[in-house]
Order: sequence, then structure tokens, then C-alpha cells
Amino acid sequence: MNFLEITNKRFSVRKFQAKDVEQEKLDYIMQSVQNAPSACNKQPWTFYIVKNKELLAKLFEVYNRDWFRTAPICIVACGNHAQSWHRGDGKDSCDIDVSIAVTHLTLAATEQGLGTCWVCNFDVKKCAESLELEENVEPIALIPIGYADVEASEKSRKSLSEIFVEKF
Ligand SMILES: Cc1cc2nc3c(=O)[nH]c(=O)nc-3n(C[C@H](O)[C@H](O)[C@H](O)COP(=O)(O)O)c2cc1C
Repeated sequence: MNFLEITNKRFSVRKFQAKDVEQEKLDYIMQSVQNAPSACNKQPWTFYIVKNKELLAKLFEVYNRDWFRTAPICIVACGNHAQSWHRGDGKDSCDIDVSIAVTHLTLAATEQGLGTCWVCNFDVKKCAESLELEENVEPIALIPIGYADVEASEKSRKSLSEIFVEKF
């Protein structure tokens, strides 16, 4: 699969098979996350890989959806606002940095035949408590990961002419 094919193949998987994910595949995904760029190379992130059933059950409470409970693994992408680069006007690059790394994660997973879904509509406070996160560390996205138990849905995207504008 070339890069365009990988980006086309990725979709939000909202139902997973009860099948374990091979450690080699997780290792591959972790390396692709490690390769992600970040502002001033601060790498202001920690990714928690949650497989433990007890902790998974707690995470399923922070985003209470039946489909989410089918995930065999959930990766919690966290940003550290005390480590991230801040522009002169105060803008914090933490969310941008973590989003790039999560994009690496989801595309590497797709290449490995695994499904993922970005989840941001969760109870952040409860999640931080479940993982006993330090102050300044924010859980930014939950990424359930596993083998999809659902077919890809039709992509709905803006046209290229709506997205790109040539300025002369
Ligand atoms: C930042 C972000 C947050 C998202 N949060 C959620 C979420 O909380 N729950 C969910 O089911 N999907 C969530 N999604 C998935 C989007 O709904 C999905 O990516 C979008 O509809 C495009 O569909 P596709 O991923 O299948 O291409 C999120 C996606 C992004 C990028």
C-alpha cells in the first residue's frame, strides 16, 4: 500500500473483533509515533497503552458507548502543557504536536491491518483521574485499537477545489 492508499483505507472503526493485537504490530505503531515531528522537537507527549481489563473498564466509563467497549486496547494520547512549545503570543502547540503523533499512530495501524478511531468527546477529568495523571498532563484523545469488525463506510469529503485555493 502506498501512502495515498493508506490514507484512503483508514476510517473510524466503531466495532472491534475480540482478537488480541500482536505485540510486533504495537511495536511498529509505537515507532511511527516516535518519528512524529513536534514544535521545537519538544515531544510533549505520553501515550498510555491500556490493555489491563480493570483499567479498560474505567476508560469505557469516560466515554460511555457500547461500541467503545468492544476495543481490546485503548491508547490514551496525552499532552504535557509544561513541556510543549509556546509561541510568543502564548499559543500552545501541545494539541498540534499530539495530533500529528496520533495521525502517525492511526495511519501505521491502518497499514498493519488494524482499525482505530479518534475519540475526543470524553470526560477528560475522569480520564485523568483514572490514569492518575500529573498536573499539566492532559488526555487529548482516546484511540481504541484492534481488528475491525465492520466494513469501511463511504468517505464524505470536501472537494479538492473547496479545500485548496491557489493564490497568485
Ligand atoms: C479530533 C477528532 C475528534 C473525534 N472525536 C470523536 C468522538 O469523540 N467519537 C467518535 O465516534 N468519533 C470521533 N471522531 C471521528 C470523526 O467523527 C471521523 O474522523 C470523521 O467523521 C471522518 O470519518 P472517518 O474517520 O471514517 O474518515 C473524531 C475525529 C477527530 C479528528
